[in-house]
Amino acid sequence: MASSLSDSRLSNVSASRILEGFEDYMNRFGAFNKRAPKRFAQADWRGVQADALGRLKTYTHVVKGVVEEIRRTLGDRIDDPTLWIAIKAVYSNLITDRQDWELAETFHNSVTRQVFDTVGVDGRIEFVDTDFDSPPSPSHEAVYVIFDRQETTADLVSNIASQFVPATLFKRLESDAVAVAERIEERLTERGGLPVVGRAEMVRSVFYRGQSAYLVGLLYAGSVRLPMVLSLRHEAGGVVIDAVLLTEDEVSILFSFTRSYFHVDVARPYDLVRFLRRLMPRKRIPELYISIGQNKHGKTELYRDLLRHLNSTEERFEYVPGTKGLVMIVFGMPGYDDVFKVIRDQFPPPKRTTRNSIMDKYRLVSQHDRAGRLIDAQNFQHLSFDESRFDPELLDELTSQAGRTVRMEGDEVVISHLYVERRVIPLDLYAREAVPTAATSAVIDYGQAIKDLACTNIFPGDLLLKNFGVTRHGRVVFYDYDELSALTDVVFREIPEPRDETEAMSDAPWFSVGDNDVFPEEHQRFLGLKPALREALHERHGDLFEVEPWKAIQKRIGAGELMEIFPYGDEARLPETEDVRGW
Ligand SMILES: Nc1ncnc2c1ncn2[C@@H]1O[C@H](COP(=O)(O)OP(=O)(O)OP(=O)(O)O)[C@@H](O)[C@H]1O
Ligand SMILES: [Mg+2]
Repeated sequence: MASSLSDSRLSNVSASRILEGFEDYMNRFGAFNKRAPKRFAQADWRGVQADALGRLKTYTHVVKGVVEEIRRTLGDRIDDPTLWIAIKAVYSNLITDRQDWELAETFHNSVTRQVFDTVGVDGRIEFVDTDFDSPPSPSHEAVYVIFDRQETTADLVSNIASQFVPATLFKRLESDAVAVAERIEERLTERGGLPVVGRAEMVRSVFYRGQSAYLVGLLYAGSVRLPMVLSLRHEAGGVVIDAVLLTEDEVSILFSFTRSYFHVDVARPYDLVRFLRRLMPRKRIPELYISIGQNKHGKTELYRDLLRHLNSTEERFEYVPGTKGLVMIVFGMPGYDDVFKVIRDQFPPPKRTTRNSIMDKYRLVSQHDRAGRLIDAQNFQHLSFDESRFDPELLDELTSQAGRTVRMEGDEVVISHLYVERRVIPLDLYAREAVPTAATSAVIDYGQAIKDLACTNIFPGDLLLKNFGVTRHGRVVFYDYDELSALTDVVFREIPEPRDETEAMSDAPWFSVGDNDVFPEEHQRFLGLKPALREALHERHGDLFEVEPWKAIQKRIGAGELMEIFPYGDEARLPETEDVRGW
């Protein structure tokens, strides 16, 4: 059917269809971002949540529509490689002058991968590498706005703030600006510079996420360059500058892989990502794309990054250090920042889960507020690597224990589904091996991580240390999702008093336990912490082992309270800000 048209006509039509699909996607994506300022101004946090979810779902939806159309256009030629090679060439030409060409390439890849169910990646059909080594078209405007030196630093700060958010929304801009200026001048002095800001470069668009709006930029004072982020939030009475971040680490934590994606309206993501890199030189390009909601393109960049690593080293995939999982096989490479997770075919007791349920949990996490505590996992399909790049024991386990997902084709290892996520140091190892002060802070932050998750209506399920890890910033995060649930679905219970001798002596519970029952006082027994660490945890977070505090959080959530975990510490907040209590 269909293909009475000539090949060149078919390729032109198809390439245009894909481009129209991409434009449709970008318009929808942009519409969500353009709504963010109004949502913020009106403190419409439920609207913010709905937009975040809606935006996440847009991509798959649009790609699906395009694939259906192309199938109709190409008929039985749908999987003819010669045609697709031509389509790619036409498409590449069509996108040369776009400001978002790299995203357009990714979109094309998504379409072709659906059409072909591509195993491995075919460079003739997909943009494995970009067609453009450097940006194909010059930028028509800078990604930032410049502010020149002002009378005082406070003037500069208040000018910046009122440039991005209507001055009428602020509650006390003048005094906030003075407080921010003091911090800036302090920091400049610490860095050995004169406390005089000569110039500021602020990203043109505001970054919105949850209940905050962030102004992001760089300050220049003589030879010193400082990142600067102002966090704006609502208080009773108006918007305030809630915090100021002036270090690479703080900004990096704000842009963490354990946070939801920002809504930011940007014409040329390429330039924005490069600008952000100047604030956070250690953050990788893929993570920056992901942080601004271009997670699909982030995956393209991740994959390219992985190929570069494989091509430039001799490293092999091998087990990562730590306690093996019952549900996942987890591997990595010694010099690589990410780990790879494959779902086993079968799960031994006490696990009572299914493959679909595990995938649902990972999906839930990808759509939920991650509270700075849940690692974002990207899922990949149909990847293929050379057998020689695997540790033989690992490969053997993969093919025998995860044969539904991993198979050999000649000397290629084909993995039909895997999660890729940032590597951290498992907390069980860390608590054993780190110096005592570091181990103690990690264990205390572990307690806080559980509380932060609770405030955002997540109960991790499995609280064992092996399921948490420590980031390079020393923050404790969670990565084992198969037992995770909504906090409001959990029934917190006290262990009942035994009624007689036999009950008291019994090893197994003598009372009935429901599927969702959790006994907080039991947890401490299982953690296996050294006494000093156990005491430290108890002193600071003893309430984790009681029932009432958990119920209190459930009640607040049930009453509609939306608790948000700040992506910065109290020390970054300004002195006059309201005390906001989570747990
Ligand atoms: N992001 C990560 N960085 C470093 N190591 C990790 C990471 N994720 C998992 N691991 C390691 O792999 C092991 C298994 O991972 P995970 O806990 O996700 O699997 P699981 O099969 O669900 O575990 P469980 O048997 O506890 O349910 C962990 O105990 C840890 O040692
Ligand atoms: Mg685990």
